Formats: sequence, structure tokens, C-alpha cells
Amino acid sequence: MKPTRPAALAALALVLSTLVASLAQCSQGKAAAPIGQEPKPAVQAPPADRIRMLISGSMQGRLEPCGCASGQLGGLARRMQHVGEQGNYDLLIEGGGVVDGDTPLDAMKLLTASQVLFAMKWRYDALGVGGKDLLLPRADWSMFLAGAPVVASDLVSDAADWPAQPFVQKEVRGVALRVAALLLDPPAAALAGATAVKHLPPAAGWQRALEGAAPTTRRILLVHGDDAAIRRLVPTLQPAPDLVVGVDRGYDAPTAAPSRVGDVPLVFAGSRGRVLLDCWLHRDAQGGQIACELVPLAASRTVPGGGGDPQVKDVILAHRNDVKAQGILAQMAEQRPTASGATYVGSATCGACHPTAMADWQKSKHAHAWQTLVDAEKDPKRYGWPVTAYPDCVSCHVVGYGERSGFRSFEETPQHADVGCERCHGPGSEHVAAGGKKPLGLLSGAQASQLCTQCHDYEQSPTFVYGEKWAAIRHGREAHQQPKK
Ligand code: HEC
Ligand code: HEC
Ligand code: HEC
Ligand code: HEC
Repeated sequence: MKPTRPAALAALALVLSTLVASLAQCSQGKAAAPIGQEPKPAVQAPPADRIRMLISGSMQGRLEPCGCASGQLGGLARRMQHVGEQGNYDLLIEGGGVVDGDTPLDAMKLLTASQVLFAMKWRYDALGVGGKDLLLPRADWSMFLAGAPVVASDLVSDAADWPAQPFVQKEVRGVALRVAALLLDPPAAALAGATAVKHLPPAAGWQRALEGAAPTTRRILLVHGDDAAIRRLVPTLQPAPDLVVGVDRGYDAPTAAPSRVGDVPLVFAGSRGRVLLDCWLHRDAQGGQIACELVPLAASRTVPGGGGDPQVKDVILAHRNDVKAQGILAQMAEQRPTASGATYVGSATCGACHPTAMADWQKSKHAHAWQTLVDAEKDPKRYGWPVTAYPDCVSCHVVGYGERSGFRSFEETPQHADVGCERCHGPGSEHVAAGGKKPLGLLSGAQASQLCTQCHDYEQSPTFVYGEKWAAIRHGREAHQQPKK
């Protein structure tokens, strides 16, 4: 019997908050080498009212980089280390889009992110709301963010536990800063059902966000939407914002040079928390003025283990251990039917009729992808935490995780460990039953290059070039299977 999720997660929330509280009492770890870029000194005397802020958004569930390639950027531990080293940010903004799905793992990631952003030494000032965030079970979402500075100016809910506010406001050296947030395309599911929220038109959301604001209040607006929609929206907002931060998943990295829409500066937060934006904002007769630098969160070369705030690392380690303890891997297995309705049979079955392709595959790294995780788990220098029980790692290193008849665990489904034939060609039961006469093709009819980038994306394989990599895993039909000319 597994407990109902909210109960289990509530218990977990308690455990984690105790952990965070006890960590906070520990003495500070020794200072680590700096990461990211130091902001350059300003040339002219800075305006007295300028404020410094750190901006990010669209984390998409990346608490830490996966370590699949060297030089990966990002992660909450490095981020909070950077915040601590700088020590003088006036405003810490996370645009929202913290998770990328509605699974039990996503809920646990939100809880962990919330612990890091709101319950440790450096506390974030504002968190926007992305569409996917709203798809999480609402009770989890509300509970994990209770008391956090969640901003959703255009979303209205009657629920007593709704954590979002129309705006958050902070005074910095006598300047009032107000942060508002709009979500241009909330998912339909969030607007229906028992936990439906009401979505206001953007202009109404903006009015709601500015209620009672003095004219001197700095107006900072986070907008979830695509670039073009945001540029259409900005000129319609009265009074004009001092700064608009776009959260558009299309931006892998943020834009350092702000663009202007009329007089309003517009920057885009990047995705996955890899590169952050470090900006100075002030106001002159034209309105908001901004200057930004990028902060790529690279590992430290001098600190063993790559650096990162040690207390945040402990919270993330606790999260990973809890994912294992709660059996989340099993909970998320076999959740949906396969796209074609066929079932997975395992690479060995394919090999019976495709011995040459089998031999080629066995020489490729795909045939060892599971073992790589097993080794990673045992290597305390690189990992040393239960990666084989962590769904994010498993999903790209096996066949059919999450789909019926696909990978469950190495013990139950060893035939689906590794990036086997059917991860690329799709479930083969019908093709096998028809002796090969029912064509298989590639999974869901994908283009080969797009299939590869489902896993070899800019984070896992920054240097991936299809032609070169296909050459490394090239295989095909047996001579007798070649179509007749
Ligand atoms: C399910 C996710 C997934 C898909 C889809 C995938 N790969 Fe991989 N690939 C991996 C993993 C995981 C590894 C690393 C395995 C290891 O080292 O244990 C890898 C390693 C490789 C390697 C060796 C390492 C390197 O970069 O030189 C090549 C080559 C490669 N893949 C090519 C491809 C090509 C070409 C495609 C598309 C036809 C593809 N892969 C599709 C997951 C995938
Ligand atoms: C989006 C798909 C994806 C996810 C998620 C993923 N991997 Fe990978 N992983 C890959 C691919 C692709 C490669 C091969 C990269 C290459 O060599 O081009 C790889 C390679 C690796 C390697 C070999 C790296 C090396 O230096 O030889 C390790 C170790 C690894 N992954 C561990 C993990 C762990 C641990 C996680 C979870 C935190 C994870 N992976 C999550 C796709 C993924
Ligand atoms: C990483 C992804 C990947 C894996 C794993 C993989 N294949 Fe393929 N396979 C491809 C791609 C891509 C092609 C080329 C398709 C194309 O060019 O249209 C291909 C081509 C083939 C072909 C020839 C198709 C044709 O139309 O002539 C056969 C047969 C085949 N694979 C069988 C297998 C078998 C059997 C295995 C496991 C032992 C396997 N493949 C593993 C991606 C993969
Ligand atoms: C019983 C023997 C048999 C088994 C088992 C088998 N195949 Fe095939 N396969 C064939 C034959 C025969 C052809 C050529 C069919 C044709 O061209 O009419 C073929 C063709 C293919 C092709 C190229 C044409 C197409 O359908 O896209 C791919 C890819 C392929 N097989 C992959 C696989 C994979 C993956 C598996 C395991 C899930 C598998 N096969 C299992 C006999 C088999």
C-alpha cells in the first residue's frame, strides 16, 4: 500500500524543513572559489536609486545538471553560492516554470526548489508561475509554496490555500520595488475542474498588480509567453513597466543586451537556470534603464567536486535519497500506453533476425547506457547518489520508461535497460509477430536527427552533429532483408 501522495509529500515537506532548519544552524562552510563572472565596475558614478537584481526563469525541473557531458552549466547549488559570494543583490527573481511536468517527481522537485529558494540563508523575493507549474496537483503546489512570494497578477482563485499574490513589494534604500507577473497562455486544464483558476486579461492583471502603487514605485513585470506576444503586449500596459522580464522557453540563455519596446526595457530569462542575468535597474525621465551581464554557472575548477553551496547540495542530496525511498521510479513506470499500441519485446528478440545490426549496436555506447548509470552511482567523485532510482536519469538511459511494457527496474525488466533498438524504432511486438512484414520505421515516425536530439540536446551533447554521430552507430538490414530493386 502506498500512502496518498499529498500525505506522503506533506510528511516529506516536514522532514525537509527540519533538515533545512538544522542546516541553517551549522556554521558556514569555507568560502569556495568564485564561479560565474564578476560584474565590471561602473564607469560613471551610478545613479543613487539603482538596484541590483538576479534574474532567471523556466527552470524546467533542472535542480542540478545531469553530468552527462563535461562543462555543463547551472544548478541550484552553484546559483546560491553565486548569490552568497556577491552578497548584495537587492532583488532575487525566479520567473517560474519550475517544473516540466505533473509527475510525483515534479512535485518533489518543486518542494526542493522551494526549500532552496525560500527557506535558506538567501531568500528569493519573487517567483512567477509557469503553465506547467499549474498542472501539478494543486494541493501539492499550494502546500509547497505556502508563505513563498509567489506572484500571479492575472490568476484569481477562491481557494483558501492559493499561495499566489497579485504582486510582491519590497523597499530597497527608500525605493519601492513591485513585481507583477502575467501568464499569457495558461493551460486549459488549469482553467477547468475543481481547482480551476480564473484568468484575467493582461491589462486587468496589470491593473490588479498596481493597485495602490505610488507613481515612484518601480514596476517590474514577469511575463510568460512567446517573444512576439510579449512585444505586442508591452505597449498596451499603462502605466508602463520599468522593466519587463520575458520567460519564453525558446531562450536557452538569457539576452544580455536588453531590447526596448517603446521606452520599456525587455530582457529574456534563459532556461534551466544555466545562465543567469545580473542586472542594474534605475529610472530616469525616459523610464526604466537597465544594464545586464550574464552569469554562466560553471563548475569551479579549483574546488573538489566542482563547488556549489554545500548546504544546498545537502538539501538536493536529501531530495535524491527521498526519491529513492519513496519508490518514485516504480510509481512513474508504465503510466501511459505506447504511441503505436504495440508492446516492447527487448533488443535480444530483434537480434534474432537482425544479427548484424545487433552486433553493430553492441559495439555502440548505447548498449552500455545502463551500466554507465550503475558505475556513476558508485563513483562518489562524480555522483555517489542513487541515480539508478532517479527517473530523470533512467529515462534517457533505457527503453520505454513511463510507457506500458517498457522499463520498470533493472531487476524486473533487464531486457529494457540500455538505449536498445526499440528506444529508437519503437515497440516491436507487431513487427516481430508479422516476421518483419509490418514496417517499424523510427519511433513515432520521427526524423532521425530529431530522434537523437530527444536525448542528445544542447545540455547532454553540446557538440552533437547528426551526421558524425550517426556514422558512429551506423547499422541496417541484413543482406537478405534489403528491399528488391
Ligand atoms: C534515449 C536517449 C537517446 C537517444 C534517442 C539517442 N541516444 Fe545516443 N546516447 C544516449 C546515451 C545515454 C549515451 C551514452 C551512453 C554511455 O556512454 O553509457 C549515448 C551515446 C551516444 C554516442 C557515443 C557518445 C558520443 O557522443 O560520441 C553516439 C555516437 C550516439 N549516442 C549517437 C546517437 C544517434 C546518432 C542517435 C540518433 C539516431 C542517438 N544517439 C539517439 C542516449 C540516446
Ligand atoms: C535528456 C536525456 C538524458 C538525461 C535526462 C540524462 N542523460 Fe546521461 N547521457 C545522455 C546522453 C545523450 C549521453 C551521451 C552524451 C555524449 O557523450 O554525447 C549521456 C551520458 C551520460 C554519462 C556518460 C558521461 C561520460 O562522461 O562518459 C553519464 C555518467 C550519465 N549520462 C549520467 C546521467 C545521470 C546521472 C543522469 C541523471 C542525473 C543522466 N545521465 C540524465 C542523455 C541523458
Ligand atoms: C539510437 C537510435 C537507434 C538504435 C538504438 C537502433 N537503431 Fe536501428 N536505426 C536507427 C536509425 C536512425 C536508422 C536509419 C533510419 C533511416 O535512415 O531512415 C536505423 C536503421 C535501422 C535499420 C535499417 C532500416 C532500413 O529502412 O533499411 C534496421 C534494420 C535497424 N535500424 C535495426 C535496428 C536494431 C535491430 C537495433 C538494435 C540491435 C537498432 N536498430 C538500434 C536508429 C537506431
Ligand atoms: C522474425 C524476424 C524479425 C524480428 C524478430 C525483427 N525483425 Fe525487423 N525485419 C525483419 C525483416 C524480414 C525485415 C525486412 C522487411 C521488409 O523489408 O519487408 C525487417 C525490417 C526491419 C526494419 C526496416 C524496415 C522497417 O520496418 O522500418 C527495421 C528498422 C527493423 N526491422 C527493426 C527491428 C527491430 C527494432 C526489431 C525488434 C523489436 C526487429 N526488427 C525484429 C525481420 C525481423
